[in-house]
Amino acid sequence: MDMKILVVGGGGREHAITRALSCNSNVKIFSVMARRNPGIARLAERVLLEKEVNISKISRFATECGVDGAIVGPEAPLEAGIVDTLEEAGVPCVGPTRMAARLETDKSFCRQMMERHGIAGCPRYRVFHDAGAARRFIEEYEGDLAVKPVGLTGGKGVRIMGEHVDRAGAIAYVERLGGDVVLEERLDGEEFTLQAFVDGRNLVPMPLVQDHKRAYEGDTGPNTGGMGSYSMPDHMLPFVSRSEYDAALQIMKDAVAAMRAHGTPYRGILYGQFMNTREGPKVVEFNARFGDPEAMNVLPLLESDFVDVLYHIVEGDLSASDVRFAEKATVCKYLAPEGYPEAPVSGQPLTIGDCGDALLYYANIEERNGTLYTLNSRTLAFVGVGDTLEEAEEIAERAASSVTGRVFHRSDIGTRELLERRCQHMKEIL
Ligand code: AMP
Ligand code: GLY
Repeated sequence: MDMKILVVGGGGREHAITRALSCNSNVKIFSVMARRNPGIARLAERVLLEKEVNISKISRFATECGVDGAIVGPEAPLEAGIVDTLEEAGVPCVGPTRMAARLETDKSFCRQMMERHGIAGCPRYRVFHDAGAARRFIEEYEGDLAVKPVGLTGGKGVRIMGEHVDRAGAIAYVERLGGDVVLEERLDGEEFTLQAFVDGRNLVPMPLVQDHKRAYEGDTGPNTGGMGSYSMPDHMLPFVSRSEYDAALQIMKDAVAAMRAHGTPYRGILYGQFMNTREGPKVVEFNARFGDPEAMNVLPLLESDFVDVLYHIVEGDLSASDVRFAEKATVCKYLAPEGYPEAPVSGQPLTIGDCGDALLYYANIEERNGTLYTLNSRTLAFVGVGDTLEEAEEIAERAASSVTGRVFHRSDIGTRELLERRCQHMKEIL
């Protein structure tokens, strides 16, 4: 029997979601995206080009198409309450309600929830609503702080003292933000991503992934939405021990239990961004969705039927036996327009050469008369899947290098050298 599924969003992450769904030949995809992603459009039965926060239009489209369910890629429609509206219209969703999505959309809610429920891994933090008070706190604080706007910023709103700004710069930033900020102790360590399927009560983890926030090689340059990421065949990372992994997983489970106890059960994909520190894993943030790029690492490894997994999430009876991932390494490399993120050159043509065995995911790109053009954000990504990290890296790197045009990528992502640097850094802080 045919299943009609609505996918909300039009980036690389949603292309990965769409492709994973379309492995099931009984699925018909309906897509809502602000711009036509050529990869998603090719797999979709029908496309609505609409802003992803325009919930009433999306809900009408869903009803008109008679979809059986929906999965929401990005955070903005979750914050706008798309799940509440679709479910009122009788469309079951994989994604949290507006209240449950506050785990991501309201950083003060997230920290206060962790504190109230005694969840481990919460950095020392203070919430401010007043620039003067925040300024005094920064002036008097010994050591470095992370300055975070309370709301969503597309991963680009955080300023770290000693990294992006000095003390005066942190104060200037707080003043520019009008004082609604969370100030946190600066954590030192290695970051990793733990994503999980959550049905409101049960949580099933996906392989660990490490993303690369900085724009340029060697982790230099401004923060981006993420330039690429990798995962290992054993689903672990060499700088995360088994007990650190268990601690991170327990934090995620405790957060799900806390949301349930709070009367806002969490259903959907839960994304934990952790910093592995000397004191074990600390929560940098939770996201209420798949990571972008991290979705492109894990979804190609999913051996179970994705539609079946989503069905169990909606039914609330998800168990670990429903979810199986291949024991392979993945490396994802994003191409971005020259000048990204600060001054991206858009409207530039690009040509893809021989991409070998790499998987291609379109992101912020435009196709006109058979030619691809850059826009303002990350353009497209290649994913290599292999028995070893080296193999996966080589596949992704060769494909990324085959592209000609005014784009760049990080050739160091997924290389042994970078991995060894990470392990070395972890040894140094312990
Ligand atoms: P976020 O938007 O919260 O994911 O933050 C973006 C990036 O800022 C993270 O991926 C980290 O690299 C960094 N960051 C956030 N919070 C902290 C912190 N407390 N200490 C050090 N780095 C942080
Ligand atoms: N890769 C970071 C994010 O999706 O927020």
